[in-house]
Amino acid sequence: MSEDHEEESPSEGGAAWDDADEASASLSPEQWLEELLAEGREARGLGARPIVQSSEDDPPELLALLERRARARVELRRRGVDHGTWYELEATPGSEDTTEDPARERARQRARFAANRPLVLRSAVAPGEHGREGLALLERVRAGLLPDAPLPPGLSPLEPSPLRPDPARDRARWVTRSQASPLELWAKAALLSDHPDEESWRLRVSAGREPDDEGCRDDQVHQEVTRLADALLPGAPRVQACQAIRSLLRECLGGEPLLTQTIAYWNCPGGGALLHHDAFEEPLEGGQRGVVYTQLAGRTAWVAVSSRELGHEVQAALRELLTEGSLPTDLPRERAWALASDPEQAAAELALPGCGALAGLVHGGEPFTGRLVDSGHAFLLEAGDAVVLPNHGPRGTCFHGVFCASAGPTYALSSAVRRPGPPPAPELETVRIGRSRRSRRRSRRRGR
Ligand SMILES: [Fe+2]
Repeated sequence: MSEDHEEESPSEGGAAWDDADEASASLSPEQWLEELLAEGREARGLGARPIVQSSEDDPPELLALLERRARARVELRRRGVDHGTWYELEATPGSEDTTEDPARERARQRARFAANRPLVLRSAVAPGEHGREGLALLERVRAGLLPDAPLPPGLSPLEPSPLRPDPARDRARWVTRSQASPLELWAKAALLSDHPDEESWRLRVSAGREPDDEGCRDDQVHQEVTRLADALLPGAPRVQACQAIRSLLRECLGGEPLLTQTIAYWNCPGGGALLHHDAFEEPLEGGQRGVVYTQLAGRTAWVAVSSRELGHEVQAALRELLTEGSLPTDLPRERAWALASDPEQAAAELALPGCGALAGLVHGGEPFTGRLVDSGHAFLLEAGDAVVLPNHGPRGTCFHGVFCASAGPTYALSSAVRRPGPPPAPELETVRIGRSRRSRRRSRRRGR
């Protein structure tokens, strides 16, 4: 049974969950797991394998079941915060939402894109030697050096630039010019955060001023940015040419995609990206329509969720915390009550940088991350896998957070997706939000 949290008041939610808890407590571990996986199936979609987050006070028989069923287990920690242990399960044949009908599959892809849900493509790209080359490039970037690669014709030699728009994270910047681009092209090396444990890096290729030209709509500029990225970043031309990625984007955008402003990511143990979105205020037509992230070496763990579903999850979490009296210390009770009661306020707060007053909740670690995992919003990416993160502006986008799930550095490429011309007509998809599986966990523990 699923309930739409929009129809619940904060005071009504607890009673409904308590009733459900009693039913959950009588389930065997196998039944409990199957029910959990079934409830996350729609959100998970076709490409992602199921993820279950364990808790140290889960019953031993449940942990044993997860150990038997798991194809991977990862312990996630980011910027000093514990986000729990995840078990990746094999999709059980017949139990996942599969289809052999290509037309139906394409319709589902379009619907997921319109609903700002992530689209995972397993084994989209053959990484070949590019993963190894990408990891080798990290050593040069850490040393303040650029890739040792020839530039394409028409670009001036790269020169160091003293500009550091983000002094806390930016480490090096280089610029070049092209007669085909009115904007200066650049590459910038930066740490992902200023946390003392952070060892994750990125090398971003773009053009113009930061942040004023982030949403540049000049296709010629983007073509030149792409030529520079293809020269500097191992594997970038392969991702650009990947038919699995291009056909998915073509289907979702209704036209040929333009991949640009590519960033090389080296997510390293203990680091990664907090839950965030990549949208900015701009007209939809001709704007940035999403991001495609392609893993080329190592493994990353993700939570990725539409802004609408994230709003529901935040409101449900706030209702539980208000009931329990255990709000984050930086969130006053009156503010929490207002956010729990008003979906518009919650959505507006999430769209703020760092998720505004909700930062302590959504970045707080295992409890909220586990809520998203239980609802089917988590997956792992192995080398060769890709994910498309749709974007229709700050109030209709795909939030995502990234963890390193390897023992050493990983390597990936992330490109902005644009499509010149008018957007296709929107398609509507009904999004069902399941009730709290966290409360089911508690009921299981009480029922032991
Ligand atoms: Fe992002």
